[in-house]
Amino acid sequence: MVAYVAKFDDLEYNILYMVEFERLKQELKKINAEAGKIRELPVEERAEFGRKVNEKRREIMAKMEEVEKALLDAEIEPIDVTAWSGVNEPMPEFYPVEMGSMHPLMTELDRVCDIYQLMGFDIEESRQLDDEYHMFDTLNFPKEHPARDGYDTFRTEEGFIPPAHTSTMQHRVLKKYKNRLGDGKSIAVVVPGRVFRNEDVDATHEHTFYQCEGVYVSEDCTMGQMLGILREFFENYYEQKLNIRTQPGYFPFTEPSLEFMIEKPKSLGGKKGDYLEMLGCGMIHPNVLEAVGIDARKYHGFAWGGGIDRLVMLKYGLPDVRYFESGNLNFLRKFN
Ligand code: DAH
Repeated sequence: MVAYVAKFDDLEYNILYMVEFERLKQELKKINAEAGKIRELPVEERAEFGRKVNEKRREIMAKMEEVEKALLDAEIEPIDVTAWSGVNEPMPEFYPVEMGSMHPLMTELDRVCDIYQLMGFDIEESRQLDDEYHMFDTLNFPKEHPARDGYDTFRTEEGFIPPAHTSTMQHRVLKKYKNRLGDGKSIAVVVPGRVFRNEDVDATHEHTFYQCEGVYVSEDCTMGQMLGILREFFENYYEQKLNIRTQPGYFPFTEPSLEFMIEKPKSLGGKKGDYLEMLGCGMIHPNVLEAVGIDARKYHGFAWGGGIDRLVMLKYGLPDVRYFESGNLNFLRKFN
């Protein structure tokens, strides 16, 4: 808490600069508008008028440069994410639009999609409100089955479900692309998306986070291919060779189901034997394929899904997942 108060000054300091920058910008706009009036003046007054306007312009622009530099130089300290949210923080509408930037999770999600696209996958986005049918029924969760409880699902009063995983999109993706199979091609799609869980929030659990799902179906695909794709993805993302490992898992929509792990690289602070679970995966359950009318005796598939936040936390050594949804500018600016 104490640490947070000290850092609050920094933030306020920054905001004062931003307000000043915005004020100067408005002033410059006014001067520019004024400069247009030169044509209405008698010819002999124009030179003097032009000189004065230009001088004023230069003055403002120099001040803007100064303020901008002060802003960039301002020391930004790590934040205390456990602190009570800053109800007294200045209103955000002061921020000039130009100061905005991509959220680090979105930058990394783009990178994730780029890697899969280079491997030939199509991208489909998930939705932020879904239903029982896509969250459970089409994924082979029997009605009333306790596995449904494992997902800490939110519901709206109307019975809609903010999806607890991107697997809610599997049925739609299979339906949309299944004609490809008839043409002798495969289905290869990844689905990035925002997901929601009724979690007890702490350093490793958030109620809102991002996942990326992968779905692959063809006549002759194998689990070995799936592990190859996943290894390729993680080695590309972390830009180094990795040791991988799997252990048995359970998901109603895959059979068999696995948990996929990577050994935490030395360069990211890992020690030998330090394995981290990165995602769930497996061979798509025949019932999931049959639900869209794909003949499960002829075609096989594999699927996987895992958190993006976790991926990014490891890459940048972030200790707390709550940074991402905190909206704290000091944190976000570190990624600019
Ligand atoms: N949806 C699962 C989860 O969030 C992860 C997952 C496991 C996705 C296995 C898959 C899969 O596509 O095949 O816990």
